[in-house]
Amino acid sequence: MNRFFCTAAALATMAVLTGCGATSEQRAYEYMPDMARSPAYKAFAPNSVTRDGLTLQHPVAGTIPRGYHVFHYGPGEEEAARAGRELQNPYRATPQTLEEGKALFQTYCQVCHGEQGKGDGPISGKIPPPPSYVSDRLMEFPSGRIFHVITMGTTGKMPSYAAQLSADERWKVVTYVHTVLQKLGDQQAGVQSGGSQ
Ligand code: HEC
Repeated sequence: MNRFFCTAAALATMAVLTGCGATSEQRAYEYMPDMARSPAYKAFAPNSVTRDGLTLQHPVAGTIPRGYHVFHYGPGEEEAARAGRELQNPYRATPQTLEEGKALFQTYCQVCHGEQGKGDGPISGKIPPPPSYVSDRLMEFPSGRIFHVITMGTTGKMPSYAAQLSADERWKVVTYVHTVLQKLGDQQAGVQSGGSQ
């Protein structure tokens, strides 16, 4: 019995030493090679196991990625107007939201639309002129419509910013444009025409 244990212990020691004894040039012995080399497929490699022969599978119809907000509006005037009627801004104009909205506006919009949204940003001379946020037309835009513009862009002249700004960030920009820039324009118009606010 004792002998059996001695032999077993000696074998185990040898096995451990063999495993550890490999130098950097010499591959160590693999006890369970399938653990180290799993039969994983590369995402774009053909695959004999799946029905369509592709490794990367399409998402199941009707599923959406976690955190993704579905946008049920197409491009164009009519859809923009519908978004304006139906969408509600989930943010209130708290100092923090306005602060964040301002920072996003300065990063993504100001270059074309200008610091006060008058359409006079640094590159405005080189692109189709952006409208002023306090033009009669844009003053009529509800929050949801400005959200639509940022999400879909306009046909041809302003690109979509949906890839750069998350839905939450877009709403923060909308809040800033609505409550700060358009208010500012309102007040200036009031002062110019001598009216009270
Ligand atoms: C690359 C320049 C550029 C940037 C950046 C840009 N815009 Fe515009 N924007 C334009 C132009 C040009 C128009 C006029 C588009 C038209 O008449 O089709 C416009 C139009 C608009 C309109 C009015 C759309 C309408 O239906 O008349 C709104 C609102 C607007 N932009 C908001 C934003 C906001 C918010 C951002 C930042 C997220 C932004 N834009 C970033 C160029 C830009």
